[in-house]
Amino acid sequence: MALRFVRLMTPSRIQKRYHVTTFGCQMNEHDSERMKGMLEGIGYVEAAEQAEADLILFNTCSIREKADSRFVAHLGHASAVKKQRPEVLIGVGGCWAQSVKDEVFSQFPFVDVAFGPGQVHKLAEFLTSDSLTAQGYFEFEGFAGDLPAKRAREVQAWVQISVGCNMNCSYCIVPSTRGREVSRPFEALLAECERLAADGVKEITLLGQNVNAYGRDLRPERRQFSELLRAVDAIEGIDRVRYTSPHPKDMREDVILAHAELPSLCEHIHLPLQAGSSRILKAMKRTYNRERFMDRVALIREHVPDCAITTDIIVGFPGETEADFRETLEVVEEVGFDGAFTFVFSPRRGTEAAEITEGLVPHEEKVERMQRLVEVVQRRGHERAQRFVGRTLEVLVEGPSRTDPTRLRGRSRHGKAVNFTGLALPGETVRVEILSASSQTLMGEESLLARALV
Ligand code: 5AD
Ligand code: SF4
Repeated sequence: MALRFVRLMTPSRIQKRYHVTTFGCQMNEHDSERMKGMLEGIGYVEAAEQAEADLILFNTCSIREKADSRFVAHLGHASAVKKQRPEVLIGVGGCWAQSVKDEVFSQFPFVDVAFGPGQVHKLAEFLTSDSLTAQGYFEFEGFAGDLPAKRAREVQAWVQISVGCNMNCSYCIVPSTRGREVSRPFEALLAECERLAADGVKEITLLGQNVNAYGRDLRPERRQFSELLRAVDAIEGIDRVRYTSPHPKDMREDVILAHAELPSLCEHIHLPLQAGSSRILKAMKRTYNRERFMDRVALIREHVPDCAITTDIIVGFPGETEADFRETLEVVEEVGFDGAFTFVFSPRRGTEAAEITEGLVPHEEKVERMQRLVEVVQRRGHERAQRFVGRTLEVLVEGPSRTDPTRLRGRSRHGKAVNFTGLALPGETVRVEILSASSQTLMGEESLLARALV
C-alpha cells in the first residue's frame, strides 16, 4: 500500500481535488480525517467546495432515518455536478453504504465507489487502479485508525481504540454496519498517542462503539480499558484525555477511579441511559436496569463529585407506555444530567426492534413525549451548570465564537462549551472566569491576571 502512495506522488501529475462531507458520529469524523490523510498521501488536495472537486466523497451514517434522508439529498447535488462534469468520481463510504452494500449502485447508478467503515483503505486502491467499473468494498479488513490522518484541529486528535460492537441492542444498526468488536493492539495505540503528543496534540479522545470493553479480545495478553487510560495519561504533553462511548454495563469502578486519580482524564462521562424503565431497557436488550444505572451514577458522584454526566435517550420505543416514559423523566430529574442527546425511536432495517408490530407509539405521542423530555433535560442542565458560575475553569480554545466573532469559544474539562472574551489563540489553554451559565453554554472572561503570571 505504501508503495502505491509513493508512486502517485510524482510531481508531473496534475493535482486532483477531493471533497468530503461527513455525517454521523465522532467515529465518522475520525474516519473522514483518515480518508483525507490517505488521499493527500496519493497526491490529492482538498477542495473548498464540492463543485470544484474531482472526487466527491460522502462518509455516511445510518443510525436514524433522518440521517439516511439527509444524505440522499446531498447525493442528489453530487449527481448534478457529475452531469456537468462526467469525469468527476463519486464515492460513498461509512455506515449507510455498509447497510445497503451493493444496492448503492442500483439505487444510485452515478456512484463510482462504495465502501464500508472497515474498508477505507480500499478507496486508495480503487483510485490508483485502472479499473473503470464501479466497485464496492464491504468486508472488515482494517482499522481506519492505521491510516495517516489529516486532523481538523492541530491540538486535538481522535484515536480509534476499537471497531465494531458485540452488544445486541435491539434498536441499533451499528453491529451490522461496523461488525464484531476488534481492539487495536495496546502498544500500537500508545505509540500513536506518543506520536500525537510529539506533534503538539494536547487533547486525545479515545473512540470506540463500546470503549470500556476494550482489550478483552486481545491475545496473548488481554488488556483493560482502565490500563489504557493510565498509560495514555502517563504520556508527557497530553493534558486532556476523553473517551466515547462507554456502556453502563461495563462502567466498572476501576474506570471511575481513574477519573479521580489521573490528572489528564477529564471530569466528564457520557453514559448512555436510553430509557429509565427497566422493562423498556430489557426490551432494548441493554443488559442493565434502572437500579444498575443509578448505582453507576452514585459511584461516579462518590469518587468524582464534580464530574459532568451526559447521556443519550430514546423516546417512543415500541411498547413504551406513559408509565414507562415517566420513569425516564424520573431518572433525568434524579440524576440531573449536564446534557443529553434525545432521539425519537426510528426503526432501522435488519434490527430486532424494527420487527415489533405491537405497542407502537403514535407519532404525535412521540413528539409530545420528546417535548416533555427536553423541558426536563434543559431545566436540570441549566441548574447543574450554575455550579460553574463564579469559578475559574481551564478552557482549551477552539476559535472565534460562532455567534459573535469578537468573542472566543472553547471547551472546559467538563466538556462544556465556553464562550468568552479574551486574547487567547486557538490551541491555547487559558483560565476563564465563568460569569453566567445556560444549559448549553458557559459565558465568561479570560483571566488575564493568570496570563500575566504564567
Ligand atoms: N432510533 C433512535 N435513536 C437511536 N439511537 C441509536 N439507534 C437509534 C434508533 N434506532 C441513538 C441512541 C445512541 C445514539 C448514538 O443514537 O441513543 O446512543
Ligand atoms: Fe456513527 Fe452509528 Fe452513524 Fe455509524 S451509524 S456513523 S457508528 S452514529
